[in-house]
Amino acid sequence: MLAIIGGSGLTQLANLEVSRREVVRTPCGEPSGALTFGSIAGCAVVFLARHGYGHTIPPHQVNYRANIWALHAQGVSNVVAIAAVGGIRSDLAPGALVVPDQIIDYTHGRAGTFFTGGDSGVRHIDFTLPYCQTLRAACLAAARQAGETLLDGGVYAATQGPRLETAAEIDRLERDGADMVGMTGMPEAALASEIGLCYATLAVVANRAAGRGGGAGISMSDIAAVLEPAMGRVRSILAKLVASGGG
Ligand code: HPA
Repeated sequence: MLAIIGGSGLTQLANLEVSRREVVRTPCGEPSGALTFGSIAGCAVVFLARHGYGHTIPPHQVNYRANIWALHAQGVSNVVAIAAVGGIRSDLAPGALVVPDQIIDYTHGRAGTFFTGGDSGVRHIDFTLPYCQTLRAACLAAARQAGETLLDGGVYAATQGPRLETAAEIDRLERDGADMVGMTGMPEAALASEIGLCYATLAVVANRAAGRGGGAGISMSDIAAVLEPAMGRVRSILAKLVASGGG
């Protein structure tokens, strides 16, 4: 079964026919909210709002381990994570959609592994390719079917938040090779990999990253105005993805 983790701007899936909601408890604590089970075009899907259904959980306080554990425990095999990002690369303008292929992790202090030693053991996963190639390809194919432009590849920089970055921080991320910046990509991707889930991110460029917008600062109302229509396009890509068997 395919799971969709919704980020900022996507706390509900309008095209999801809900069959039930389930509060799942995990050894890692409480997920961000109840899992919403349902179907899109007759195909089973489970949805989870990463920041909670009322967007009450900031990026550094999301219980990523509980979210990933809960989805895995419910028989999910594939996860598409929707993530709002700031665009660093010049073609990543507000409204662009992209499936990143690499990650640089700048977060700190987040519970980032299931292998915490002791009874949980110690394991070092291969994370050379942080995203599931099959699911990335399925997202790209679904976008083609939906008639939406979805850019293939890019380096996602995961920052701590909740504040946005300084212009100098964005310059540094660019020098490091980052194309886009968001606050929730890690440790989510690594945890999915640890537990054996096929995981891909569908990033929605909400704004030009700090210092890249021609001198103006970043306004939350501008971000909301970009995300609203962009999430409609994300929903139509997801509908095609689900109909294709979810990767
Ligand atoms: N920086 C970090 N996270 C974000 C941004 C940004 O500019 N836009 C949306 N999420």
